[in-house]
Parts: sequence; C-alpha cells; structure tokens
Amino acid sequence: MLYPLIKELLDLEALSQNITVRGWVRTKRELKNLTFIEVNDGSCFSGLQCTFDREKGLDGGITGALAKITTGASVEIQGLLVPSPAQGQKAELAAAGIVLLGGAPAENSDGTAAYPLQKKRHSLEFLREISHLRARTNTFGAVMRVRNRLAFGIHRFFQDRGFFYINTPVITASDAEGAGAMFQVTTLDLGELAKSGKAPDYTKDFFGKPSYLTVSGQLEGETYATALSRVYTFGPTFRAENSNTTRHLAEFWMVEPEMAFASLADNMDLAEDFLKFLFTLVRAECDEDLRFFDTHIEKGIIAAMDQVIHASFTRMSYTDAVAELEKHKDKFEFSPYWGCDLQSEHEKFLTGEIAGGPVIVTDYPKDIKAFYMKQNDDGKTVRAMDVLVPRLGEIIGGSQREDDLSRLENRIQEAGMNIRDYWWYLDLRRYGTVPHSGFGLGFERLVQYVTGMANIRDVIPYPRSAGQADF
Ligand code: 4AD
Ligand code: MG
Repeated sequence: MLYPLIKELLDLEALSQNITVRGWVRTKRELKNLTFIEVNDGSCFSGLQCTFDREKGLDGGITGALAKITTGASVEIQGLLVPSPAQGQKAELAAAGIVLLGGAPAENSDGTAAYPLQKKRHSLEFLREISHLRARTNTFGAVMRVRNRLAFGIHRFFQDRGFFYINTPVITASDAEGAGAMFQVTTLDLGELAKSGKAPDYTKDFFGKPSYLTVSGQLEGETYATALSRVYTFGPTFRAENSNTTRHLAEFWMVEPEMAFASLADNMDLAEDFLKFLFTLVRAECDEDLRFFDTHIEKGIIAAMDQVIHASFTRMSYTDAVAELEKHKDKFEFSPYWGCDLQSEHEKFLTGEIAGGPVIVTDYPKDIKAFYMKQNDDGKTVRAMDVLVPRLGEIIGGSQREDDLSRLENRIQEAGMNIRDYWWYLDLRRYGTVPHSGFGLGFERLVQYVTGMANIRDVIPYPRSAGQADF
C-alpha cells in the first residue's frame, strides 16, 4: 500500500493517530528544548511541522539523526498527529522517531557550497540553472500542481462536451501553419554531408523526404473532426522561431479542439466557455497555491480571475481594434496600421487599457494569417480569431476553416506552398466538406496567466528555447 501523503493527512485531519511522514526537509530550527523540522513532500503547498521535544529525553539514535539533518535531506519521521498551536497550520507531528534516508550537505568538505537550495530567496534565473531541483521550491511546486490541475480540467471540459481526444503525429512532412519555423528531423549524417560538399539526398533520409517536428496538430485534427464531429488534441508542438521573449518556447504544449458544423461565432463561444471553466476549476481546487501566487508573484491575480469568470469577453474586429490603437499611436514602439501584425504591446493595450479584460479580435487581414482560414466575402479578411488576455496578450489563436476546395487551393498557391503536399487535406473539401472551426490554446500561456509567472520558461519543467536544451 502507498504511504499517506501530507495532503491526505491534512485533509483527513487524522488527528491523534500515529503516522509516518516521508519527504524532504525544508528547515530545521531549534528553540529552547524543541527541535522543529519542516517536512514537505510536494503533495500540497503546506509541509508538516515535526516537533522533537528534547526535554523528554530522546534516544541516542534520534539525537544522532537530528544532528545530521540539513535542508534538503530526505527523512522518514514517525509520531502522533496533534492539533497545532502555531498559526496557519491545522496539525503538526509530535515526533517520536526519525530516519535520515539521504543527507544533503550544505557544504562540501573543502568548504564550498553543496546543496544549492538553502533557506533563502533564489532568483528565478538562478533556479532555471538548476531546473532538476527547482520543483522542490515553493514557487515551482505550486506551478506544477496548478499545471497538473489545468491539464486534468482540459480533458474534463472536452470529454463532458462530446469531444474525442486524438493523438496527432509529432513527426510530419507538412507545414501546418505555412510559416516555416520548423525543426528538421533527419538521420542523414550532417558531418559526412558537409565533407562531401553535396546537397542532401532526401530519398535516402529515414522517411524518404524532408520531415519535421510538428508546429500544430490542426490539419490532422481536421481530418478526424470531419469523421468524429468533435475532437481535441493535447500534445507537444515545436517552433524554431528564434524569438527570445517571455511568451515563446521552442517546445510547448498545445490544446487544439476542432469541430465540424461550427462557425466562427461557435468557436468564440467555446473558447470563452473553456477559459472560464478552467479558471473556475483552479479557483475551486488550487486555492492554497493560488493564494501563494497572489501574495508573492502577481498581486491581485485572484480578483482579476474572478472578474473574468463573471464578465463577457469583449469581441471586436481587427479593423476596429486597429482604429482604436491608431488613436493612441504615440504610446507604441511599433505604430499600428491596418495590415500590421498586432504586436505584444498592442495586445496588452487592447486588453489592459481599452477593454479592461479579455478581448477576442476577429477577421484579420488574410495576408497575416495562415492559408487554411476561411475567406470573408470582402476579399481582404479571413474568419480568424485571437483571444487576448491582460498581461500576456494572445493566449488562443483559431479560425473557421476554408471549406471551399478551389478557394483553399488558391490560398495554398498564393502562399507559395506546394499543393501536392496537401492532397489529403484537400480531400476533406472534395468529399463531404462541412463548415468547421477550431482553435489552439498555448498550454504554457494558460499556466502563465493563472499563476502570474512572468516568464514562460518558469511554467514548464524543462524549457527549450534558442541555445537552451539542458536537462
Ligand atoms: O496561433 P497559433 O500559431 O495557432 C495554431 O497553431 C493553430 N494551428 C491553432 C488552431 O487553430 N488549431 O498557436 C496557437 C497558440 C497561440 O495562441 C499561443 O498561445 C501558443 O499557441 N503559442 C505558443 N506558446 C508558446 N511558445 C510558442 N512559441 C508559441 N507559439 C504559439
Ligand atoms: Mg497565433
């Protein structure tokens, strides 16, 4: 049987029971005749305080173990769970026995520092360098618990609404966004190739043609939506964009629902309901962690989320959004104009200053959006939608899809892509085409929004970005 976690012990309020707790020491303090050890096992934000009363005369084994306990050591402590006199904790352990499982020396024998997570504030930049240990801090423990709950909530939301979870390929030969920021996958020997001075012969490559890590599962998702009606993917995606920002990763997780018989308006409704559902879920189930973020990471984050849950998202066309932005031209580094890609500063202004909450911007110029989006009758714009949130900007991007064969063929050609590569995607418009829509939610951006963490590298266990693939 699995041993009980601290979360379970505290939830059960297993008071007056003799229990054993296992975890890692956060702190050890001595006060008069008492030794306090704070043990954390990551199951919840709180640790369990274990109190040793030296006045009672501890046996030699215990005294010896206590002397060796340092921050970071792994321990097994046994004792009686009693109501705590201290503020902010329901229970503590009146400890009767301790086993030191693994020490964590603070200093090496030559006096140099060893275990890096001593009881003090560490910068997030420093913690990134020790990503293998950072989950043992309050901040990263909380981030990962919230991330976990959101992942669970995503499945719950879609499963309850008739969507099937499908797994689209990670390796692909097609560029789903037509944007070209793809990592190539090859078994060709690049060193040999360079020496030979010849161009690569992809017929000799593993897949017999150039292949890449996927930038999105959407196109394959569409093939399943036009069979099972409603599907969603939730998996890793890869972008070789060399943008060193606090919102971009080279490897990130994306959630992509795709619905047959759905318009852009249906798509917007789903996106709005989806975000509100997830915010409501973490408010209900991650209270302790959220309170930590609200106090130490981003003040007011809980109130802001509550407000979003209860208000309607502002919806405006790209044309109206640009007109609004143009009124405040002098506030931006990049001057907005009709046809421009909205910059992060524009998105933040729309949400923070103009709407005071999330905004869904629709009907973007076709030239700045992907080839698969449904064209509007004006010949200039497409049925796109981006959901923007305060602080972050774009969190969701989606559209109604072009379901007309010849219009789609034209767009693929206009975009300079090879139409032959998309024969299977075009088949969906040849055989039983239907109006359909979907979107992609950047999972790490969602975790960023909910936790208030400023840098996307701090909401995924092992961030990958240009020049960074350690661990
Ligand atoms: O807007 P994007 O590029 O849309 C798509 O990939 C569509 N195929 C989605 C769809 O309609 N099925 O990406 C969707 C979302 C963005 O809104 C953003 O939240 C996130 O994915 N995203 C990134 N997150 C982290 N790092 C990156 N480099 C990201 N690029 C996009
Ligand atoms: Mg986008």
